Amino acid sequence: MEEEALYAISNGLYVLGAKESDRYVGSLVDAVSQVAIGPNIIILSCMNTSYTKETIEKSGIFSLSILSKKVAPIVIANFGYQSSRNVNKWDNVVKEIKDDLPYLKDALAKIRARVIDKKVFPNNTLFIAEVEDAFEYQQGGEPLTYRDYRNGFKEKVMTEFKATQNKEEKATPKAENAEKKWVCTVCGYVYEGDVPFEELPEDWVCPLCGVGKELFELR
Ligand SMILES: Cc1cc2nc3c(=O)[nH]c(=O)nc-3n(C[C@H](O)[C@H](O)[C@H](O)COP(=O)(O)O)c2cc1C
Repeated sequence: MEEEALYAISNGLYVLGAKESDRYVGSLVDAVSQVAIGPNIIILSCMNTSYTKETIEKSGIFSLSILSKKVAPIVIANFGYQSSRNVNKWDNVVKEIKDDLPYLKDALAKIRARVIDKKVFPNNTLFIAEVEDAFEYQQGGEPLTYRDYRNGFKEKVMTEFKATQNKEEKATPKAENAEKKWVCTVCGYVYEGDVPFEELPEDWVCPLCGVGKELFELR
């Protein structure tokens, strides 16, 4: 099978948000699609390792901020390259809270959806959800696509993320930093090669499960 053929499926990019008892959590996702109208039904696929997924299973409700082509690359890194287990991601962005769910202030549009069903696969959980509200659509703005991400945007994200990590490294005592490793969020493989992870070629894939670099996070 030509796995790369699947990249030809058009996906957008979204910041997913959810509420835990005392804070908001969130993740970058591309696996979202509207599959029915009247009622408006969307599907969302989350990796089983995602903390946001765990939170949605408990709360049954989530927000989506649709990203525009003008989004700052660091927003992608903030939500896609680290887990809410360790970071309060919503503290790092300009957010807007509505009905107790978080949204990116500058999103192209904002959606609130309630889970009505789910299906669990070995690596992912598929949520089927009904759209309860959709608002603040910025007419004329252009959505960022997964294809944009793969065709150049990702390099900007990696560069900005690396810069923030370097700053943190300088501010954090060495012993604490030494423990951080790039981990595959799909299979748990820990990268320990000699080449710095950021410098691995863009088409490098996880030697265990074959997913790309974007599905690794620093833990
Ligand atoms: C371009 C891109 C697309 C992604 N798409 C998804 C997705 O559709 N579903 C998902 O669960 N994770 C996706 N991820 C990975 C999560 O954003 C990432 O694992 C995140 O750290 C999970 O955070 P959490 O543990 O706070 O939920 C994507 C990451 C990137 C960089």
